[in-house]
Amino acid sequence: MSDFVVSARKYRPQTFDTVVGQSSITNTLKSAIKNDHLAQAFLFCGSRGVGKTTTARILAKTLNCFNRTENIEACDQCDSCQSFNTGNSLNVYELDAASNNSVEDIRNLIDQVRIAPQLGDYKVYIIDEVHMLSNSAFNAFLKTLEEPPKHAIFILATTEKHKIIPTILSRCQIFDFNRIKVKDIADHLAGIATKEGINADPEALHLIAQKADGALRDALSIFDQIVTFTGNELTYKSVIENLNILDYDYYFRIVESAQKEDIPSSLLLLNDIVEKGFDLHHFIVGLSEHYRNLLVCKDMRTASLLEVGESVEQRYIDQAKGIDSPVILRSLAIISKGDVEFKASKNQRLLVELVLMQLCSLQQEQEKKND
Ligand SMILES: Nc1ncnc2c1ncn2[C@@H]1O[C@H](COP(=O)(O)OP(=O)(O)O)[C@@H](O)[C@H]1O
Ligand SMILES: [Mg+2]
Ligand SMILES: [Zn+2]
Repeated sequence: MSDFVVSARKYRPQTFDTVVGQSSITNTLKSAIKNDHLAQAFLFCGSRGVGKTTTARILAKTLNCFNRTENIEACDQCDSCQSFNTGNSLNVYELDAASNNSVEDIRNLIDQVRIAPQLGDYKVYIIDEVHMLSNSAFNAFLKTLEEPPKHAIFILATTEKHKIIPTILSRCQIFDFNRIKVKDIADHLAGIATKEGINADPEALHLIAQKADGALRDALSIFDQIVTFTGNELTYKSVIENLNILDYDYYFRIVESAQKEDIPSSLLLLNDIVEKGFDLHHFIVGLSEHYRNLLVCKDMRTASLLEVGESVEQRYIDQAKGIDSPVILRSLAIISKGDVEFKASKNQRLLVELVLMQLCSLQQEQEKKND
């Protein structure tokens, strides 16, 4: 068997401070531990792969550590920490409610809860996807949640907060986990690449981070997938090929031809894109994102909304300088109309060509208005 461990597991954070992008939550938890003011029930909400389970485990480990650091982190050395590290701790109990959602499953858990821990002070019960519990299981659980024994801490996690009944909500301290920012994901990946001896192009990591759409776990899976393919050189080119992303260079060139009112060149660019087998609808969506990026560059106050890698940033700023905001707005409207009509269109390529032709005619349109 190969000893390859997927990055999402290999790099699961072990301390509060190494959890990416959730510092308000981890700081609150730390200060609650410090002041001995910890709630007994928590609800961790947020989309998949943003650190809910990870944080729950860190909380369990830190609470039980015999030798917490001054900075309220687990020491990673004591008997309790060691048993957590090897996955043998009896003080953490995880129930995946997605597959164990019957009354029986909950009864088993409740029976457990009564027994005080042998080693350490707290038993931590993590119930994942808690919204999947059946109604009767929920009811059986409520009483325990109402009057838990002193040594019990419950951490309920869910991706669907709206499905949690009010009686549960009102008994828990609620933490909403953020989706992770593109830059934070890219930085995290860069750290891992260094540790793995992978030479990663920042632009490549940025693309992966964008594709992950806020979920760090997804970013790590994509990263693994591409590394398997490319070995130790992770280039921008290898990422766009693997993820079937259109090189942003095309968008810059499309806008250039629009500025020059060069219909033939924009149609030829589109032909190129089609021949690459790239999906036309993705192209439309990508083009509107490109114009959106140009728009946010027009004003210093919104420039921070530009979520792209550093090396392309300047390119956006330069291109934005050459186009007036009203033209960008009109362009966005034209593309958006094309996007709406796309699915119903009988000739999608022609529709996209029309969009490009209209973009190439905007300058004239604007000048006519100004006359
Ligand atoms: N905020 C984060 N900081 C660092 N790594 C994270 C974070 N969120 C997710 N991960 C990575 O993704 C994996 C799965 O995260 P997990 O905590 O199980 O997500 P969730 O429970 O929110 O679905 C972790 O092992 C870790 O490698
Ligand atoms: Mg989880
Ligand atoms: Zn310890």
